[in-house]
This record gives sequence, structure tokens and C-alpha cells, in this order.
Amino acid sequence: MTTEELANEASAKDQQPTTPPPEISPSTATDDNGSGGPIILFFILGLAASLIVGWVIFPQLLYSQKKQPVDFNHALHNELVEDSCESCHFFREDGSYSGVPKLAQCIECHEEVNGEDPEEAKFVNAYVANNREVPWLIYSRQPQNVFFSHAAHVKMAEMDCVTCHGHIGESESLKVYEENRISGYSRDIWGRNIAGIKRNSWDRMKMDDCAECHRNEGVNQNSVQTLRGGCFVCHH
Ligand code: HEC
Ligand code: HEC
Ligand code: HEC
Ligand code: HEC
Ligand code: HEC
Repeated sequence: MTTEELANEASAKDQQPTTPPPEISPSTATDDNGSGGPIILFFILGLAASLIVGWVIFPQLLYSQKKQPVDFNHALHNELVEDSCESCHFFREDGSYSGVPKLAQCIECHEEVNGEDPEEAKFVNAYVANNREVPWLIYSRQPQNVFFSHAAHVKMAEMDCVTCHGHIGESESLKVYEENRISGYSRDIWGRNIAGIKRNSWDRMKMDDCAECHRNEGVNQNSVQTLRGGCFVCHH
């Protein structure tokens, strides 16, 4: 600053002589919070911003969302059918699993629109009337090179559907299907939690999750398959 500027500044101050000097209360005078506060605040803001990016925005970018072609109410239908789950998801004569039901299994009750529900109308008009199968999105779909057998788990090991699928079978509505943009896997396989934390057995179904249970249960420890090579139990 030049002396002239200093002089100007001084005179500018002189022009407001009536303004009383700010009162310094005893508490602010003793509190030395001039610099620490803002630094901590910036740290917290920065942390919050990166947490939001990491936990909210990144997962949203990582997963594309698809709605099921028709919503389906499991809870409602379980009350209406005779054999509960097995009315729609059953083992065929050869031991293979029927999986997701075909149109033929719905038609006896939905030849035409019976109720008020717009999802039923959509189902009947778009699929039943045109004799077109509903392209259901399979949350648990594994890649082609993985062999999985429901008979081994449900019949032999007497496992509950919930262990691997969670509570879809009792739900009133089908959740949104989320597909990992990089791996192409469904989120049900790749994992609900971005940090990899697993609270329930159905939160994730990657190779390690299958293998972890097989290890715990001693699957194939003594069988021919183990001697031939563990990989071929699940990869054909
Ligand atoms: C009236 C027929 C019907 C009955 C009864 C029924 N389901 Fe379903 N279920 C469906 C249809 C349709 C889907 C297709 C939705 C989809 O793509 O997931 C489905 C999907 C599922 C899926 C998801 C598979 C996946 O990975 O996408 C599970 C798990 C399931 N059902 C379990 C059950 C259980 C457990 C019961 C008995 C408590 C049951 N279902 C009873 C019709 C039925
Ligand atoms: C035992 C008879 C029965 C069978 C089998 C059945 N439904 Fe239903 N469904 C009903 C009844 C009853 C309702 C409730 C009244 C209505 O909306 O028609 C209903 C409602 C619906 C609805 C509207 C409510 C909802 O779930 O979102 C849809 C969609 C539907 N059914 C699809 C299907 C599909 C797909 C299948 C075959 C996998 C099927 N239903 C098999 C009897 C049946
Ligand atoms: C040990 C885990 C496990 C158990 C227990 C299990 N599932 Fe599955 N389920 C899977 C896996 C893994 C797939 C995917 C298979 C694939 O993509 O080849 C699957 C696929 C399915 C599908 C979709 C199949 C298709 O391609 O249409 C349905 C429906 C289903 N399961 C229903 C059930 C029901 C109902 C039960 C209980 C009676 C059950 N599952 C028990 C692991 C399991
Ligand atoms: C919660 C436990 C559990 C999970 C999760 C599990 N399994 Fe299993 N699996 C078993 C048990 C127990 C058996 C043995 C069944 C029997 O033969 O008594 C078995 C058997 C098998 C078999 C038949 C092996 C043989 O020698 O006949 C295959 C294949 C298999 N599992 C694949 C898979 C795949 C793929 C996954 C993951 C998508 C998976 N399993 C997840 C418990 C599990
Ligand atoms: C208990 C069942 C099981 C066994 C045993 C197993 N796998 Fe897997 N493997 C899976 C499943 C399920 C997937 C798909 C999910 C994933 O990528 O984690 C997979 C995926 C893979 C992939 C990735 C394939 C892709 O398309 O991205 C490779 C590579 C692989 N396995 C190699 C092996 C090798 C090598 C062994 C033997 C040391 C082995 N697996 C044993 C279940 C198994």
C-alpha cells in the first residue's frame, strides 16, 4: 500500500466517528475459536461430500434400473393357489427346476380381466391376449458358465428359499431390477451393500458366497468331484 492509500483509508475511517466500537463480551474475548472452527467445518463438509458421492451417487451410476414388465403380488397369490410356492415353482419329473412360471400356469385364472387392478389388466391385455410370455427379469440369474441345481439345495439339503433369495416369495410387489453397468450382474448377485458388508445370507451370491457355505457344510469334501477338481462342481 502506498502512503496515499493508507491516508485515504484512515480518512475513510474518520468519516464514521459515530459508530461505536464493537463491544467485546467477556466470553468472546476469552474464546480462541478464530481458526480451528472453520477448518473442522471444511473437513466435515469435505467428508460429507465424499461420503455422498461414494455411498449414494456412485451406486446410482453403477446400477441401471429396470422395472419388471408387470408387477406381481406374491402375498396375494400364495393365498389363492393350492400348493403355495410349488403351484408355480416346482420340480419337473427329471428333477430340473421349473423356475419362473410360464403363461400357461396363469391362464386358468386370467383368461380375461377379472379385477380392478391395472397390473392385471396390463398382464392380460399385453401378454395373455397375445399369447406372449412375460419377459420376467431374474434377480438371481448366474452367468452361463455356472451350474446350479435347485434339487441339490432344496430337496437334498432341505434349504429354505429365503436363504438365497430373501423374502421375494412373501412380497406384495416386485422390486426394481438393478443391473451392474460394468459386470452386467444383477445387484442380488453382486451385493446390496457397496462396502461388501453382508448382513443376511441372501445379500449377495457371488462365487465366494457359494463356496463359503459349501466349505461350512462340508459339501463335496469326500466326494469324487473334489478329487477331480473343485471347480467342476459349479462350472461345467
Ligand atoms: C401364482 C404363481 C406364483 C406363486 C404361488 C409363487 N410365485 Fe414366486 N414368482 C412368480 C412369478 C410370476 C415370478 C417372476 C418375477 C421375477 O422375475 O422375479 C416369481 C418370482 C419368484 C422369485 C424370484 C426369482 C428371481 O431370482 O427373479 C422367488 C425367489 C420366488 N418367486 C419365490 C416364491 C416363493 C418362496 C413362493 C411361495 C411362498 C412363491 N414364489 C410363490 C409366481 C409365483
Ligand atoms: C388361482 C388363480 C390364479 C392364478 C393361478 C394366478 N392368478 Fe393372478 N390373480 C388372481 C386373482 C383372484 C387376482 C386378484 C383379482 C384380480 O385383480 O383379478 C389376481 C391378480 C393378479 C395381478 C394383479 C395384482 C398383482 O399381482 O399385481 C396380476 C399382475 C396377476 N394376477 C398376474 C398373474 C400371473 C403372472 C400369474 C401366473 C404366474 C397368475 N396371476 C396366476 C388369481 C390367480
Ligand atoms: C442355495 C441357494 C438357493 C436356494 C435355497 C433356492 N434358490 Fe432359487 N435360485 C438360486 C440361484 C443361484 C438361481 C439362479 C440359477 C441360474 O441362473 O442358473 C436361482 C433361480 C431361481 C429362480 C429363477 C429361475 C429361472 O431361471 O427361471 C426361481 C423362480 C427360484 N430360484 C425360486 C426358488 C424357490 C421358490 C426356492 C425355494 C423352494 C429356491 N429358489 C431356493 C439359488 C437358490
Ligand atoms: C447356504 C448354503 C449354500 C449356498 C449359499 C450354496 N450352496 Fe450349493 N450346496 C449346499 C449344500 C448343503 C449342498 C449339498 C447338497 C446335497 O447333496 O446334500 C450343495 C450342493 C451343490 C451342488 C451339487 C454338488 C454335487 O456334488 O452334487 C452344486 C452344483 C452347488 N451346490 C452349486 C452352488 C452354487 C453355484 C451356489 C451359489 C450360486 C451355491 N451352491 C450356493 C449348500 C449351499
Ligand atoms: C461353489 C460353486 C463354485 C465353485 C466350486 C467355483 N466357482 Fe467359479 N463361479 C461361481 C459363481 C456363482 C460365479 C459367478 C459369480 C461371480 O462371478 O462371483 C463364478 C465365477 C467364476 C469366474 C468369473 C467368470 C465370469 O464370467 O466373470 C471365474 C474365472 C471362475 N468362477 C473360476 C473358478 C475356478 C478356477 C474355480 C476352481 C478353483 C471355481 N471357479 C470354482 C461358483 C463357483
